[in-house]
Amino acid sequence: MIRKILKYLLFTLLTIIVVAAAFFTYANIAVNQRFEKSYQIELKPLTISHDSVSLALGEHLSVIKGCTDCHASDLGGKVMVDDPAMGRLVTPNLTKGKGGLPADYSTEDWIKAIRHGLSRENTPLKLMPSQEFNLLTEKDLAALIAYCQSLAPIDRELPKLEIRPVGVLLTHFDKIPMVPAELIDHHREVVADIPNEVSLENGQYLATSCSGCHRTDLKGGDGHIPGSPKVADITGSGNVGKWTEGQFITALRTGGTPEGKHLDNNFMPWQMTKAYTDTELKSLYIYLKSL
Ligand code: HEC
Ligand code: HEC
Repeated sequence: MIRKILKYLLFTLLTIIVVAAAFFTYANIAVNQRFEKSYQIELKPLTISHDSVSLALGEHLSVIKGCTDCHASDLGGKVMVDDPAMGRLVTPNLTKGKGGLPADYSTEDWIKAIRHGLSRENTPLKLMPSQEFNLLTEKDLAALIAYCQSLAPIDRELPKLEIRPVGVLLTHFDKIPMVPAELIDHHREVVADIPNEVSLENGQYLATSCSGCHRTDLKGGDGHIPGSPKVADITGSGNVGKWTEGQFITALRTGGTPEGKHLDNNFMPWQMTKAYTDTELKSLYIYLKSL
C-alpha cells in the first residue's frame, strides 16, 4: 500500500516538473520573441541646440524625469539589481567614455531610445520607461538630448543586462513593465512646447511622470513589486484632496505628509520630486486636485 502511494506521489511530482519545465520553455521563447521584435517607426527631425538655456533645462529634466536615478547621478550607468532569480538589471553608461555609448550614437538614436524605448537596431530596450517619456514636448526632448550629448566622458564598463527565470516569468505575465515599447503609440503626435507657468495643462503634462507608478488615472493600486507598499491615490479623492498647496509641496520635497507619514524614497521617489520647481509643483497640485 505504502509503496503504491509513494509510486503515485513520485509520478505526480515528475508530471509537475515536466509540465513546469515545458511551460517555462514556452514562456522563455515567447518573451525572447518580444525582445527581438523589430519596430518600424518614422522619426520626425528634431533641431538640437546646445545653448546654455537648453543645457540647463536638459539637466533639470534629467533629474525630474528620473534619468539620474536609474543611470546613476553622473549618468555613467550602474548595476541596479543583481539577483540570482530575477536577473541583473543594468543601465548603460550614457556618456562617450570607455564603456559608454558608441562614438557615432546619433540624435536619431537618442530619439529612438527616449521617445520610443528602442535600441538603434529598432528592438525594444528593457525597462527603460519610455512610455513616460513618449509625450515629452519637442522642446524638452531636444534639451534633454543636448544635455546628454554634452556630458563629460566617464570611463565605466558595466556587465551585460541579463533576465533570469523569475524575470522571464514576471515579463511573460506582464507583472513588470519590461518592454515599454509595447505600451507606446509610436505614431502619436506630440506637442512642440507647453509654457513653463502654473497651469492645469502644465500639471497634466508633468503628471505623466507619476503615472508609471500611480497608474494612468493616478488613483493608485497595488504595489509594483511583491512586498512594496500600496501606491496611493493622488487625485482629489485621496489625501491630496485635503492638503493645502503648501502641504503638498512639503510632502514632495521632504517626504513628510500632513498625516505624519514619512514616505520611503525607495518606493515614492521624493528625492526626485524634490528637484521640481515651485511652478512645476503648483501645476501638479492644481491638476491632481482637479481629478
Ligand atoms: C527605471 C529606470 C530608467 C530610467 C528612469 C531611465 N532609464 Fe534609460 N535605460 C534603462 C535601462 C534598464 C536601459 C537598458 C535597456 C537595455 O539594455 O535593453 C536604458 C537604456 C537607455 C538608453 C539606450 C542606450 C543604448 O545603449 O542604446 C538611453 C539613451 C537612455 N536609457 C536614456 C535615458 C534618459 C535620457 C532617461 C531620462 C529621460 C532615462 N534613460 C531614464 C533604465 C532607465
Ligand atoms: C516609483 C514609483 C512612484 C513614482 C514615479 C511616483 N510615486 Fe508617488 N508614491 C508611490 C508610492 C508607492 C506611494 C505610497 C508610499 C507609502 O504609502 O509609503 C506614493 C505616495 C505618494 C504621495 C503620498 C500620498 C498619501 O496619501 O500619503 C504623493 C502626494 C505622491 N506619491 C505624489 C507623486 C507625484 C506627484 C508623482 C509624480 C511627480 C509621484 N508621486 C511619482 C510611488 C511613486
